[in-house]
Amino acid sequence: MWRIAHLSDLHWENPERYFSGGQDALRLTARQVRQALPDLVVVTGDLTTYGSADPAQFIGVRQWLEDLGVPYMVVPGNHDLGANRLRGATYPDTERYHSEPWAATPFAQAFGLSEPVSVRRLGPIRIMAVALRDGDPDGSIPRLQAAISEEDTPVVILAHYPLETVRATGPLAVFGAGDYIAHSLPALRASLAPIGSRVLYLAGHVHAASVRRLADGITQMTAGGLGPGPSQWWLFHLGESDITYQSQVGAGPQTFWERFGAQLSDSHAYHWGPPADWQGRWAWASADDEKTAVNERSTR
Ligand SMILES: [Fe+2]
Ligand SMILES: [Fe+2]
Repeated sequence: MWRIAHLSDLHWENPERYFSGGQDALRLTARQVRQALPDLVVVTGDLTTYGSADPAQFIGVRQWLEDLGVPYMVVPGNHDLGANRLRGATYPDTERYHSEPWAATPFAQAFGLSEPVSVRRLGPIRIMAVALRDGDPDGSIPRLQAAISEEDTPVVILAHYPLETVRATGPLAVFGAGDYIAHSLPALRASLAPIGSRVLYLAGHVHAASVRRLADGITQMTAGGLGPGPSQWWLFHLGESDITYQSQVGAGPQTFWERFGAQLSDSHAYHWGPPADWQGRWAWASADDEKTAVNERSTR
């Protein structure tokens, strides 16, 4: 049995400029994560708010991660490495675009990532961390495809942008990967679809907890915004034939979207999803019985 902590959207800011209180929230939440005794911590992007323009931010958040005392895997979010030139030009202070190749970007340098896709084996699964930018200038998608074709194990993908939107109503009905990696999304989907029932796709970006089984069999989960809210993370228990998960409450704000003027009738439910999603189980199909895949959630 192995434990994995899935964190996202820490939005580390030193000094705090956009989300006040985030540093305190992260310091307190680090204690909770340590107490859960994970074997691995995975972070699905937006480690910082303005690290794309101020790479010194990465030093602070890297120390926060190293103080957890366990191995970790990271991918950049749009605030760590601008997703495309248009957003970079529009938001140069928070989503700066870097024209350098991957290995020369400040994010890759700060975390010592020579390749945009890194793979780690944990028990029966492979975990693949995929850095994505629009138009795939780093060649991440072919690298991912090659890594997948070498394995017939279950694959946990770490990426920043969800493959599909996570809510039917409100701001998250339209906020997703679209304005960020629209041109690369079809190729990403196409690379995962053939092994959909062996894929658990973990993402962030939307600052909301969600669990969705997509039409091609992929199970997509998103974690909250650990620093700015909703301060939610996932704890996974990995066994030989399945993964169970439980939603965890962090020390930061419990909601996020109202601060952007969103009118939400039940804000907590909007950010945390229905109680039936707060814990569950993902059981993968082997390469032989993909057609009879069983993916279920507990009904609690
Ligand atoms: Fe974010
Ligand atoms: Fe983001």
